[in-house]
Amino acid sequence: MAFTALSTTFMFLKAAMNKKELLTTGQAGDGREKALLDHVVTTAAKGNPLSVLNVMDTYAKTSSWFMNIGDDKGPILDKALDKYNPRVVLELGTFCGYSAVMIASQLHNEGSKLLSFEMNPDNCNIARQIIEHAGLSSKVIVVEGKFNERLDEAKNFLEEMNSRHFDFVFIDHWKDRYTPDYLLLKENAMLGNGSGVCADNMGPIMGPADFKKYVKTHPEELETSEFKSSAEYLWWFPDSVTVSTFKLPTKL
Ligand SMILES: C[S@@+](CC[C@H](N)C(=O)[O-])C[C@H]1O[C@@H](n2cnc3c(N)ncnc32)[C@H](O)[C@@H]1O
Repeated sequence: MAFTALSTTFMFLKAAMNKKELLTTGQAGDGREKALLDHVVTTAAKGNPLSVLNVMDTYAKTSSWFMNIGDDKGPILDKALDKYNPRVVLELGTFCGYSAVMIASQLHNEGSKLLSFEMNPDNCNIARQIIEHAGLSSKVIVVEGKFNERLDEAKNFLEEMNSRHFDFVFIDHWKDRYTPDYLLLKENAMLGNGSGVCADNMGPIMGPADFKKYVKTHPEELETSEFKSSAEYLWWFPDSVTVSTFKLPTKL
């Protein structure tokens, strides 16, 4: 137990020390993301999202570290999905598809779907295969590219879903994009009154200072609860997830 926690910490530090590459490419630079895919398809039960998530968590705790939302913060996302019961969902930052599997497995409304943006093409391929293995391909569209450069994809998706806005948005990409991409969503009327906005990594260490400030200073727009936890697979690293309800200004 202690040894596996140490090895996860070592793999976290290895990724953190390679931060420049991680931030540029979205991968740790040592092939761990592809190794995760191979492990999932050979180990997890096909068509079983829970088995896929369990295998990803166990692998992260015993072999490597991954920036999945993970099993400490995952239940916060789960509860938020329960609360908003969304039909039309957006994710910013797919990575290997952990949270996409978690979200899609909770979409119970008929015709409900998740649109997920990922800038790294290899991550897109890995995520698509993991989502396929979980049996959730029909519920998830992974779009390759940066959200702010592929806004039309989001607009087309809303049109296809016959919806004016997203019922739920999960923000989990690079921290310097939280505020600008949230504002893009707002300015393009992609959030409706009562839409849920869930943001990962809002804790004291890696939290995006500008978005934390925005949430704090706009309570009339984002009615927010913060849920404290620890960062993925690192019990010693404090982190939190915020869950906000978006409010349109009331007309006088
Ligand atoms: C923390 S990981 C996402 C983890 C994932 N949500 C999960 O819990 O399984 C962040 C991901 O966002 C991607 N990313 C960063 N900036 C992005 C952007 N502007 N648009 C799309 N993807 C982005 C990175 O390549 C990386 O794979």
